[in-house]
Amino acid sequence: MDSNKRIPKHVSIIMDGNGRWATARGMSRSQGHAEGVESIRACLQAAIESGVEYLSLYAFSEENWNRSEQEVMGLMELFFTGMKSELQLFLDTHVRFLMLGNRPRLSEKLNKAIDEMEEATSKDYQTTLILFFSYSGRWDILQAMKKAARELTPEQFQAMEQQDFDSFLSTRGIPDPDLIIRTSGELRISNYLLWQGAYSEFYFTDTLWPEFRQKEFKQALEAYAMRERRYGK
Ligand code: FPP
Repeated sequence: MDSNKRIPKHVSIIMDGNGRWATARGMSRSQGHAEGVESIRACLQAAIESGVEYLSLYAFSEENWNRSEQEVMGLMELFFTGMKSELQLFLDTHVRFLMLGNRPRLSEKLNKAIDEMEEATSKDYQTTLILFFSYSGRWDILQAMKKAARELTPEQFQAMEQQDFDSFLSTRGIPDPDLIIRTSGELRISNYLLWQGAYSEFYFTDTLWPEFRQKEFKQALEAYAMRERRYGK
């Protein structure tokens, strides 16, 4: 078999364990998140080198709004400064940036920066980096259902097939994830890509997110290459 066939088109990561990594070192949770940004850089580089076309990251869930104000503000700030600092690298390495999630919950300043980043990277790209931010799987399904109800006649709504519903999700046009990785030893989906992950392969590792770098990413790709996907057949 052509070895390329074994490269997942879309790899998605539930980045977990920043807090535990920091606490174990007597550091603040925010320092753990900052170190987590280094892992994002490393995994993006590994994705580019491996020919993975879509890398998506669960960076902030709808439930994460319930964390302390200080931690939430810190994550918003990391997101904002990260977009500013990475723009040139994304342009140089042909990376398109997309953010998917509940945009109205974000500040005007952050929304403006996201729009600018998406626009600036939309033209010449080989790899797509998607940040799921203020996202949850149930939120996505519910907003898709409301959108379909607004845009379709009752007859069209009743006749809707599964692939028609895809086009109302925030992920329209993006292939479903072939591989979902979760770090830090937790064995849960945590309200992530509930619809889109129906046939995804899962890879769980005890490694905490700040220590999940290029080598670990490539090990996950190797594990994926050994799997046999049957789609229920
Ligand atoms: C999980 O660790 C991680 C997050 C909730 C946020 C992920 C964020 C980053 C990697 C930083 C980059 C951020 C942006 C916005 C680009 P945790 O805090 O749940 O860890 P714990 O389970 O050990 O407490």
